[in-house]
Amino acid sequence: MSFTVKKINESDLIEISKICDDSISDPFGIQGFKDLYKLEHVKILKSVNQDEITGYIVLSIVKDEAEILSIAVGENFRRQGFAKLLMKEGLNLIKKSDAKKVFLEVREDNICAINLYRSFGFKVISERKNYYKDKKTALVMMAEL
Ligand SMILES: CC(C)(COP(=O)(O)OP(=O)(O)OC[C@H]1O[C@@H](n2cnc3c(N)ncnc32)[C@H](O)[C@@H]1OP(=O)(O)O)[C@@H](O)C(=O)NCCC(=O)NCCS
Repeated sequence: MSFTVKKINESDLIEISKICDDSISDPFGIQGFKDLYKLEHVKILKSVNQDEITGYIVLSIVKDEAEILSIAVGENFRRQGFAKLLMKEGLNLIKKSDAKKVFLEVREDNICAINLYRSFGFKVISERKNYYKDKKTALVMMAEL
């Protein structure tokens, strides 16, 4: 297997934005990704199978807190361990910073993502009712490093 995770280049943004569009109901869009890419406190990693980008994770690290802003794996590459690898490397990057807590939000019905986050020690700490356009609840999850 030649699965790896690395920081993205600006030229990866179109491909990553496409994975986001296909996977997330409220995607950042290409301009959103271009804006995020310029921010010092935002890190974007990609998972790669040979030369193909299979998924991404977007992290924000500010002082002692970090947030997972988005993670997605292309439909054809799911259930092969790419998200696990992205989470592992993303959390390793956060561990090298001053952050001690990591937060994220997830739709209450996104069982795949909730299972993934739980397996990395995330716990539900609060709920945001009517958070999404379709009125679904967001779960706020947190892990301590
Ligand atoms: C959630 C997502 C990133 C998982 O990516 P993936 O590469 O398929 O996940 P992995 O193969 O690394 O699996 C990791 C863990 O996720 C969970 N998981 C993944 N797919 C699952 C499924 N269909 N059903 C239940 N749990 C699932 C499991 O806990 C799995 O661990 P296991 O294989 O030991 O059971 C992917 O389904 C996705 O991109 N979904 C759309 C975008 C999204 O919802 N992002 C999160 C927004 S908050």
